[in-house]
Amino acid sequence: MSRETVLTANPIGGAETVPQVKHGFKIPLMRPVVDEEMLQAALFALQNEKLVMGESVYKFEEEFARYCGTRYAVSTASGTAALQIALQSMGIEQRDEVVTTPFSFFATSNAVIHAGAQPRFADVENEGFNIDPAKVETKLTAMTRAIIPVHLYGQPSRMEEFRDLAEDKGISIVEDACQAHGAEYDGKRVGSLGRVGCFSFYTSKNMTVCGDGGMIVTNDEELADSARSYRDCGRASKYTMSRIGYTSRLNTVNAAIGRVQLRKLDNWNNARRRIANLYRRELEGAPGIELPPLETPKETSVYHLFVVRSQRRDQLAKHLETNGVEAAIHYPVPIHLQTSYRTNFGYSEGSFPIAERLAGQVLSLPIHPAITEEEVRTVSRLVRETANSE
Ligand SMILES: Cc1ncc(COP(=O)(O)O)c(C=O)c1O
Repeated sequence: MSRETVLTANPIGGAETVPQVKHGFKIPLMRPVVDEEMLQAALFALQNEKLVMGESVYKFEEEFARYCGTRYAVSTASGTAALQIALQSMGIEQRDEVVTTPFSFFATSNAVIHAGAQPRFADVENEGFNIDPAKVETKLTAMTRAIIPVHLYGQPSRMEEFRDLAEDKGISIVEDACQAHGAEYDGKRVGSLGRVGCFSFYTSKNMTVCGDGGMIVTNDEELADSARSYRDCGRASKYTMSRIGYTSRLNTVNAAIGRVQLRKLDNWNNARRRIANLYRRELEGAPGIELPPLETPKETSVYHLFVVRSQRRDQLAKHLETNGVEAAIHYPVPIHLQTSYRTNFGYSEGSFPIAERLAGQVLSLPIHPAITEEEVRTVSRLVRETANSE
């Protein structure tokens, strides 16, 4: 991996001089930060700690739990593993159903299948990108054990309505907060609002461990104990086993980097919100461009992605690419139309029309703490050029 030192003119997030991964695009979609403090933390962990389940892992868990406002945090090897292990630690069984969104990264519902349960989809809200509580209600059955709202693109789901749906029915809320580190709903950090919350630290996320990694947060002691065992081969003690578990631990060196990233997360999220506001100002009124829903006093987004909608999305993406701007589609194929889901569950076009429409219209514009105002203006100008052309 080649590294270069990037000195950005007027970076919105005040990201100082940081070594960065080199990209082919003039304006990349996202840019993970790897600074000197992270390199030193990684080196220290490698030289001084156990490489697996070293001190940094426990410290990272403690600090992440405190950050989310939960009693426990259990790290895992990925966000997918966090979701699967969270479900299994709740005692999900073979024929149990879990209701979630078809418009997410496919790991959300794959994790349900890995846990041995049945995913059931409910369509997305008319406005916005998250699963619609009213549609979830129509999918609940006697077999429903959990609902997984995904805080997609960093925008919190309508948790109060999900809590109302689940209450008194023995249904648990499992938050997929893999794209929403630090987002808030009603003054509380996401991850702490349901029975259990799951995070990913993959390299593109608002904070990363510079590799794969995940975290489960909860106030449920029994669930946390079970998750700790599942992620560590099912151990009860070194050579006794209490369940059929996995080798799904977060490596010490990654935890050491994660601790440094966590300390910077709030500043980076504030920068993302400033970038999002600048995009809104620059793009307001652009013909045929629909901006992401505004935050409400209850919901604070952390803009993991800044996603616009356009009927001419593909032309727009092409124009940006031709001009050196990296944009992306999250996600071009809704989960229910992926081959395995069509084959195994019999879904087809028309099953979830709003998710399908979104898949044809969404485009993620570059957003990361080191982007400059000038770059945001350049991207916005290019978007307007396509919007104004016939
Ligand atoms: C919404 C969502 N859920 C789950 C995952 C899975 O996380 P990971 O890639 O760490 O397994 C991701 C991340 O990529 C995600 O964006």
